[in-house]
Amino acid sequence: MRLDPRELFESVAIWADRHSPQTLFARALIIIVVPMLLLQALSAWWFYSQRGDNVTNRLALLLVRDLRLLIALRSEFPDDTHRFWIINHARTDLLLSVRFRGGIVPPFQSPAYFDIVAREVQGALDADLRKPYFLNNTVGSDQLMIEIQVADGEVMEVYVPYLRLTFGSSFAYVLAQVGLAMVLFGLAIWFMRRELVPIEHLGVAADSLGKGREVPDFAFSGGTREVRNAATAFQTMKIRLGRSIQQRTEMLAGVSHDLRTPLTRMKLSLALLPESPETRELADDVADMERMIEGYLAFARGEGDEETAPADLSEILEDVAAGARRDNADVSVSWQGDMNVELRPLAIKRCMTNLLSNALRHGRRAAIHATRAKTSVEVTVDDDGPGIPAERHEDVFRPFVRLDASRNIDTGGSGLGLTIARDIARSHGGDVSLAKSPLGGLRVVVRLPV
Ligand SMILES: Nc1ncnc2c1ncn2[C@@H]1O[C@H](COP(=O)(O)OP(=O)(O)OP(=O)(O)O)[C@@H](O)[C@H]1O
Ligand SMILES: [Mg+2]
Repeated sequence: MRLDPRELFESVAIWADRHSPQTLFARALIIIVVPMLLLQALSAWWFYSQRGDNVTNRLALLLVRDLRLLIALRSEFPDDTHRFWIINHARTDLLLSVRFRGGIVPPFQSPAYFDIVAREVQGALDADLRKPYFLNNTVGSDQLMIEIQVADGEVMEVYVPYLRLTFGSSFAYVLAQVGLAMVLFGLAIWFMRRELVPIEHLGVAADSLGKGREVPDFAFSGGTREVRNAATAFQTMKIRLGRSIQQRTEMLAGVSHDLRTPLTRMKLSLALLPESPETRELADDVADMERMIEGYLAFARGEGDEETAPADLSEILEDVAAGARRDNADVSVSWQGDMNVELRPLAIKRCMTNLLSNALRHGRRAAIHATRAKTSVEVTVDDDGPGIPAERHEDVFRPFVRLDASRNIDTGGSGLGLTIARDIARSHGGDVSLAKSPLGGLRVVVRLPV
């Protein structure tokens, strides 16, 4: 199998993406902290292994020189008085505790366990001493024991404190490093938070805009240029969006309004014509057009200035159902979970009324049910009518589309009901979709984000 490095890199990136925290803040911290820790660990390792070895190496060489001096003194002045003199000076001046005894040193052995200091001392002894020796790093109490054959039948035992062979405790060094790292880390967190707050605000604002809620103007004086630019771009986009929606609505209203006058004139002229099948058909068409225009005007008006407010969705649903029950309709309403939602109550009421009137026009019985999920509320409107074949589900959302081609007022209106319902749901950031109902007819699902 051949491995494409780009593919490999890509899959590593995907893996990292899936396994790292989701917030920008946490990721940014990781991006700062991980290299910082790695760098520190690396430099600490380098410092100890390279510099540390070097220093230990020199200290070991110095120790061997001292030992050579002691051996030379001993062979020059072998009497007992001088032996004590040598032992005393070794203790006070060289920090070595020395003892002379008869016998021979045990055969050579490597240090009992790995120990940089013992290893360095062994290397220095091999290089510089040229006498049989025995090294023991298991005598404890921070000492190294060396036995050297100083003469035939005489052994010098030396206890060397590790203090002479290392460059002191590194505790303070580590403490300083960790402390400094903590301080820098704290500062990094603080600065990072400051930089990320505007991005969070921007995200919240974009989210509210998507759900059709009022977005207050905001401007960032601080923050990076990129974030400020994004905020300004967002602000401009919001204004343009509002303007274009307003323009669309106003144009629709204007056209519909302007068409009314010629239509009224046509109606008058028709009334003056002698009655015939042709004029009757024409009159029907004119009536149709009037209804459509009324529908459009209502649609355009509905787009008006209503603002989102916290509302109890269950109350709205009960209201809608009660309206239908006054005409003896069979409607049931039920819900599950918290029904307090931010929405435009009149618009949602209209959306639900449209769906319920469809359900009752095509079926004998309707059921409304609302459920609360984590990020949305879902309202289903079911009926026991004939339903809509799946391949026409998208068609019926288009304006003026009716499946019943007869244009009979009893079986349908202008064909705007579902269009308006979806428009309202989408302006809340949600959507309307169709499915098959367990009651046998159509199921309409309205999803509203919360
Ligand atoms: N519950 C339903 N069962 C079966 N068919 C439906 C149902 N709801 C809508 N339809 C079909 O979808 C078409 C479009 O519905 P829509 O609500 O948009 O318009 P309409 O009901 O005809 O008119 P309006 O609602 O504007 O008075 C309807 O004409 C109808 O054929
Ligand atoms: Mg309808």
